[in-house]
Amino acid sequence: MKQLEYSQLETFDTEYVNNNRWEIVKEKIDNDFPDGNFTFLDIGGGNGKFADRLLMAYPQSNGTVIDNSELLLSKNKTHERKTLICDSVANLSKFHQKYDLVCFNWLLHHLVSDSYTQTRQNMFDTVNIAQSLLTYCGRVSIFENMYNGLVIDGLPSHLIFSLTSSKYIASFTKKMGANTAGVGVCFLSKQQWISTLKKSDLQLLAYSDAGDAWSISWVRKLFLHMGKVHEGHFWLSSSSPI
Ligand SMILES: C[S@@+](CC[C@H](N)C(=O)[O-])C[C@H]1O[C@@H](n2cnc3c(N)ncnc32)[C@H](O)[C@@H]1O
Repeated sequence: MKQLEYSQLETFDTEYVNNNRWEIVKEKIDNDFPDGNFTFLDIGGGNGKFADRLLMAYPQSNGTVIDNSELLLSKNKTHERKTLICDSVANLSKFHQKYDLVCFNWLLHHLVSDSYTQTRQNMFDTVNIAQSLLTYCGRVSIFENMYNGLVIDGLPSHLIFSLTSSKYIASFTKKMGANTAGVGVCFLSKQQWISTLKKSDLQLLAYSDAGDAWSISWVRKLFLHMGKVHEGHFWLSSSSPI
């Protein structure tokens, strides 16, 4: 899997799970872990702001943040119930500890290899590895961007991957606003996410839209064949829905 450069990673030092998005995941946690006593693993958890929210809202919880960016991990506040691990998702299969909650907040689209097919496989394999990290009643929480096609649903995913992963046109894609220029990014449409997750070892329990459609210029929309672009949240379990 490719790694983003320092300057590209710096832009991720922000709080992605804001108050509105937090309400979505909090409702799910309150419902499935009513005593608030759970362990969590935030994969690609970066600066740890989401872990901090969990630890504050659930004083009986304990969590681990794993990320392959030392820069982002160094931004974490220390907390007696928080563990930090600097490692790549590529090594997740070596982890043997089990967690009640495994989170992927805007991580999966970064698991880029040289080809689109291998990248999709990385994403799928990583979701499946999460299953092996779950306790019996464990849950997986995924926040992602949904890039739906105007007519051909999966086309923006391919176009954005091809454009951003090319080193030859990296200065152009950077000027176009792609933070991942020269490395690549693999956004999926909502339907692509649903079909990927349904093929996995996990059970999709719920999907929630996590915000309004993004406002994007029509030129960009036409160029990238984009329809509605928005954020969404998936809640999954390792067993059959209750
Ligand atoms: C868009 S940021 C999201 C950060 C965090 N989850 C949040 O919501 O604030 C993507 C994160 O994934 C991490 N990441 C990307 N590829 C990774 C990999 N192969 N292994 C572990 N972490 C990775 C980045 O370092 C970064 O922290």
